Amino acid sequence: MQRQEQAPLWEALLAHVRAGYTAFHVPGHKGGRGAPPELGAAWGWSLLEFDLTELPGLDNLHAPAGAIRAAQELAAELYGADACFFLVGGTTAGLIASVLAATRPGMRIILPRHAHRSLLAAVILGDLEPVFYPVYVDREWLLPGGWDEEAAEALIRRVRGAGAVVLVHPTYHGLVGRARELTAAAHAASLTVIADEAHGPHFYLHPDLPPGALTLGADLAAQSVHKLLGSLTQSSWLHLAGGRVAEAQVEEVLRWLESSSPSYLLLASLDLARRQAALTGQGAWGRTLELAARVRAEIGRLTGITCLDASSWPGVTAQDPCKLTLKVSDLGLTGVEAADYLRQAHGIQVEMADLCTILVILTPADGEETAERLLAALSALVRERRGAKGRVWSLPELPPPVQRLRPREAAFAPKVSVPWQAARGRVAARALVPYPPGVPLLWPGEEITPEVLEVAEAYRHAGVELQGVTYGEDREPLLVVVEE
Ligand SMILES: Cc1ncc(COP(=O)(O)O)c(C=O)c1O
Repeated sequence: MQRQEQAPLWEALLAHVRAGYTAFHVPGHKGGRGAPPELGAAWGWSLLEFDLTELPGLDNLHAPAGAIRAAQELAAELYGADACFFLVGGTTAGLIASVLAATRPGMRIILPRHAHRSLLAAVILGDLEPVFYPVYVDREWLLPGGWDEEAAEALIRRVRGAGAVVLVHPTYHGLVGRARELTAAAHAASLTVIADEAHGPHFYLHPDLPPGALTLGADLAAQSVHKLLGSLTQSSWLHLAGGRVAEAQVEEVLRWLESSSPSYLLLASLDLARRQAALTGQGAWGRTLELAARVRAEIGRLTGITCLDASSWPGVTAQDPCKLTLKVSDLGLTGVEAADYLRQAHGIQVEMADLCTILVILTPADGEETAERLLAALSALVRERRGAKGRVWSLPELPPPVQRLRPREAAFAPKVSVPWQAARGRVAARALVPYPPGVPLLWPGEEITPEVLEVAEAYRHAGVELQGVTYGEDREPLLVVVEE
């Protein structure tokens, strides 16, 4: 048997369940017998038999020496990494662990402005000072793409006391910037490169997908296996390469962050998703790429819906063809309205929607039938909106942030909630995050500018959830600021 045909953790779990032990251990439902009956009825009782945590023969996620270690080694081998850590706290846990392992409190960290909110958590926990490099935001699509390479590299050379540079590779919408060049600049300055590769675990599986961050030199790459490959929600992994960060340090930090009772449903699903990716990934993603090309071509025939081609965007070097970002504002709709229509009228749920776009993700789970359903619904949307006047968004560009306090200081400072307009000029105590995609418009410690308020207001009015906003008794939106 080839090494990648093995699934050591899955095999160990299967052997344990088949052995039929009488359980005097947690979880308290003991194989489903004590679980709420609805769970077994809906999920199947056998699923609950596999809901186990650390037991003899099943290894220990926090000091792996058996089946988990073997499974992690196979994942590292597949991705060309030196080590791999299975995660039960999503890529969120992987990014926080990466940052804490690569820095010390009081250091700086160099980040793109479109960093996910998990990096904000890492900065707060690690008591770091963020230094942002500018990212281009397309004014028509209102989406981030590549970054200003010169400015980013100059910052890397100039900033003193930094521990790491973060890359978003790719963005939520599948766009890839000049990661190789940024990585080289960071390494020349002796900085660790952490890749947020939440949306890129499939990049390594097919040559027509963008290059993976590890192949471009990243030291740490956290990937949401659950987002693009076949594992269960919340299961991710973190790869380590390059020798700049010690494996033991990452393992130590993960012990601080993750449960001491990790779910073996999640862990075993990672082992099997790795095997599936290794054995069938190239063919499966090849078919998905063909399907995506066909769907993209069909959408190109619809008047009023445009599928993003970011090849001419500054700083964008590649795009994941399986992420279809569709601009619907020419139909006179917000993305949120188009997504509502698709859900209510056609039973189609998209991945995300914002001011002018919806995002559709294709994976090997899709095929002709789901593609046809999507295309039929989009055609119906175009027919419904025939003759509608297009909508043009003119939002202000966000000026470079003015950081008045470190994020940690602001996050732990006494706070008050104030009405929207009264927040102008105050210091944010909480991040303001349109969700999805989970990229903060404002970090704690930053001055609240009129431009941020205007952009946030546009998201709120369009029906995008804005995390960080609280509501007064009369449902008036309030912003949480540092008490003066
Ligand atoms: C760019 C990006 N990074 C990190 C994450 C966090 O990933 P997870 O949900 O696996 O914790 C997300 C989640 O949406 C994301 O979009």
